[in-house]
Formats: sequence, C-alpha cells, structure tokens
Amino acid sequence: MFAILAGCGGQQGDTLALVPITDVDPAPQAVEVQLVATASRIEYLPGKSAEVWAFRDGAKGGAGTIPGPLIELRQGDQVVVNFRNELPEPTTIHWHGLRVPPMSDGTPSSQMPVPPGGTFQYRFTATDVGTFWYHPHVNGDVQVEKGLYGALVVRGGVEPAVEADRTFILDDVKLEASGELSRQTDQLDLMLGRQGNVLLVNGRSGGKLGVRAGSRERWRFINSANGRYFNLALDGHRFLVIGWDGGLLPRPYQIDTLLISPGERYEVLVELMGTPGATLPLRTLHYDRGHEIPDPGPLDLVQLSFGEGGAPPAALPGTWGSLTPIPVAMDTPERSFVLTEKDPDPEPEFFINSEKFPRSTPTHVTTEDVAIWRVKNETEMDHPFHLHGMFFQVLDVDGVPPAQGGWKDTVNVPQKKTLRFAVRYGEPGMWMYHCHILEHAERGMMGELMIMPRR
Ligand code: C2O
Ligand code: CU
Repeated sequence: MFAILAGCGGQQGDTLALVPITDVDPAPQAVEVQLVATASRIEYLPGKSAEVWAFRDGAKGGAGTIPGPLIELRQGDQVVVNFRNELPEPTTIHWHGLRVPPMSDGTPSSQMPVPPGGTFQYRFTATDVGTFWYHPHVNGDVQVEKGLYGALVVRGGVEPAVEADRTFILDDVKLEASGELSRQTDQLDLMLGRQGNVLLVNGRSGGKLGVRAGSRERWRFINSANGRYFNLALDGHRFLVIGWDGGLLPRPYQIDTLLISPGERYEVLVELMGTPGATLPLRTLHYDRGHEIPDPGPLDLVQLSFGEGGAPPAALPGTWGSLTPIPVAMDTPERSFVLTEKDPDPEPEFFINSEKFPRSTPTHVTTEDVAIWRVKNETEMDHPFHLHGMFFQVLDVDGVPPAQGGWKDTVNVPQKKTLRFAVRYGEPGMWMYHCHILEHAERGMMGELMIMPRR
C-alpha cells in the first residue's frame, strides 16, 4: 500500500525521482503489481533517441522507463508480481538481495525462462528491510545493459529523520554518436565488463538535484552497471554509512569516499552544507580494479543545487540495525571457491574452481548449516561476488578482519586476494552464486548451490 508512504518524499520537483509502480491490490500488507519487459526508445543524449529494453508498469499505459518502476514495500508485505515478456527473447526477473522462495528467484536454475509473449507470476514476502533491485537473469550482460533494471525498497524498523529519502541507481552506457547503444562488443568489454562512455543516475546523464542547505538526506545507492565501479565523493562532505545490502548496520560509520561495486547497495546519510544558490557535483573517482584501466579523473554524476535552508537535522536514532554474528568455530566447514580467468583468445573465459558455468557441478549443502566460504581471487582484477537467497558476514580479507560489520549479499573480492565470509544456509532449493560483472557471469564465473532440507 503506497498511501502510507507519502511522507517519505521531499522529492517534489526532483527530476531524478523514480516513479512508483501501481499497487492494484487494495488490501493492506498485500501488494500486487503488473510488470512488463518491453522494447522502448529513450533519449540518453538530448534530441537523440536510443533503442532500449525497459520495464513498464502494466497497470498504466505508457512506455518503458529506465530504471523500471520503483517497487516500494513495507516489511511483511505479501507481494505478487504479474510479469509479461514483450521482448523478442526469453527473460526472467531476479530480485537481487531479497530472500524469496526459490521458485521466485528468477534464475534459469529455478524456472524456465519466460518466452516472448509469455507470463510468469512471482510471489514473495518482503522479509527484510533494505534497498534491493530487480533485473533479468538470462543473457544478463545484454539485457541489463539494454536497460532492464529497477529499484525495490523495503521500509520498516528504525527510520532516521531526514529531509528527503532518495534512491539512486548508478549505471553507464556505451553510446554511439547517434545516441544509440553501441553494438560493438570488443575484447576489453568482455574482459572488464562493458564500461560505458556516458554515466547515468536513474537513467539520466547530467541530472540535477535540488536540495535544501543545511538539511540531512538519506541516499540509497544501487550499482546496476555491468562492470563499472563507482567511487563516490562529494567535496567538503562526509557520508555516514548506515546500511549495506542487507539493511541497517549496527554501527554506522563516516567515510569520505564510497566504493560501490556492481550489484552492491549502500545507504548513507549526508548533511548538505552549502549556501543557497551554490551548486556542487556528486562525483565518482577512479578506483583501480585491475588490468590497468586508465584513470579518467573525477567524473560528475549529479549536480546538486542548494536551495533555501531546510529543517536542521534532528537527533539521530540511538540504535540502528541488529547483527548477531554467525557462529563460526575452529571446526566450521570451509569451502573454497577459486576465481580464475583465461586470456582473450578467442574470447575471455572465466571460471570458479576451474569450472565454467553451465558446465559446472552444483555445491550440495544442508539448510541451517553454518559454513565459511573462502573466495580466492587469482586474477588480476577485482570481482564482486554475489550469493542468491541469503545474506552473509565477511570474516576477513587476506586474514584481516573488516573494520565494519553488516549483512552482505554481494562483496568485492579484490585482485589477488582471498576473502572469507560466514553464511548460514537458507531455504532449500537451487540458488546461484556468481561474479556480478555480468560479462564474467555469462562467460562462466557462476555456480549453483543446492540447499537440501534437513533430514
Ligand atoms: Cu543481481 Cu544473480 O544477480
Ligand atoms: Cu568478475
């Protein structure tokens, strides 16, 4: 039910605001939506349109939008998504980060892809509060790049008082001078994950955002890019990181730059210091993710413009999220996942434990068991590792425990390093794990986790 969410905005006049999808079920705690994947045209460059694929709200008329409609939920909502595929090829929808029943996970391991003209009903309960996203899980590097992605926000629990609560999906596209998406895919695109030449925030380049001087805002970031890492900075400001993939942290922390690898989400609070009339760019700084990607210098994402002073920030909550450590001991079983790559001859290939999906052996485990996953990155570039169906807790990177704790479903494994995380296996079913650089996932760096019921 969206009516109760009306107070969350502060987004009037904000051209970057996402449009919420229509809930056709009037019952409280029940949300039913119509989501359609369709071909569409969009102007990434002014006056030049591009042929894209996009989601649209099937309960309304109108074209597809990039990002797709925003799905806003309250914790505990029962959700039904009636999906229709109007694309010329099969597709699915995966609910990235949400703990959904395996048959609603939207992967080729959990369902038959929906053929052109076909429909599928996804059903799940909004169990966890946080920032999530949805995207196809077949031919992912192509379909997501063409524009098929959207944000999903689940509210509930502790809500810090803010002037505005905004969701930003970060992406990039490789455009021709004509404004069309490039059809050239070179070896570098496959090796690094296609990097675009135009940066997008909520589907727009050069977006503008009106903010109130002196106010505090909550910003939710989602990286939906195939390969680009975003490393956000706002001159003269620090970010208070309050949430990760799996919701609010037990202890928020301050940082100057926010690194977001593909698939990850972060929620921050920012106190906006500026004089009315002034402008300030939100930028992404270079991050060395390997293979000598050149440093283009800072790139602008969004231009903030400061308006009249807002309400001075209220006191922050005394407690935030909760985090019970997953109990690991000397005898907790450890599983090893070794990430490797092969040179571009004729095309780069990517492996987990020397296997290339789909020719790989599923990992069999038992629900509720606790395990340590040891992800060893032997390649010369970073890989964001994503596990479906459950959250995990990072234990260490090359033996060094992280400074902060929280729930993750996607984590960057830096080049030539070994990252270990603890996980308690969730619902029985077939789940996937993979690198979220989509060119890598679609060229082998993906695997299946079969969770068996306890006997
Ligand atoms: Cu966001 Cu398996 O993906
Ligand atoms: Cu990768």
